[in-house]
Amino acid sequence: MRGKKSRIAIGCDHAAYSLKEKIKEFISQKGIRIEDFGTDGPESVDYPDFGIKVASLVSSGEFERGILICGTGIGMSMVANRFPCVRAALCSDLFSAIMSRRHNNANILVLGARVIGEGLAIEIVRAWLETPFDGGRHQIRIDKFDRIKYDCLSFCGYGDSDQPGSSLKLKTSRRKRQDT
Ligand code: RB5
Repeated sequence: MRGKKSRIAIGCDHAAYSLKEKIKEFISQKGIRIEDFGTDGPESVDYPDFGIKVASLVSSGEFERGILICGTGIGMSMVANRFPCVRAALCSDLFSAIMSRRHNNANILVLGARVIGEGLAIEIVRAWLETPFDGGRHQIRIDKFDRIKYDCLSFCGYGDSDQPGSSLKLKTSRRKRQDT
């Protein structure tokens, strides 16, 4: 990762709060800037609120990359991949993490805190941050799908900006609950 926008946006729900803190620490120690968009504790929250925040920042280009974590990673993946130009990859192994960068130029890494342990999660983050995109034929393939959602959103009348994701106004809600 390099350049002005080379900072990472991170977000999670209650299931992944403690893993998020560990990953933040690891990334900061690597000298990479990371901004935390919550959640800020183990109280039950709704993962879309945090997924939407991070995915919209990557979609708009404000952040080069993001990391999202929930219990399985599935909900966060579903949320993130609805955003134009977001290529979110749910990874539970090193090979997938590396290939998500080399072939898919993944700009959001998604992890399941209830699926993998802390040690593996850190190694996945390390590999994902250090692996460059191969480009070439893989860029041609990405170009074939990258604008799909942006074009759909424009077609449906969501704003008139040229910036993917810029018209999406988002807010976060939190509430105290017993369920997880
Ligand atoms: C929360 O219980 C859980 O549903 C969430 O963390 C995530 O796994 C959803 O996909």
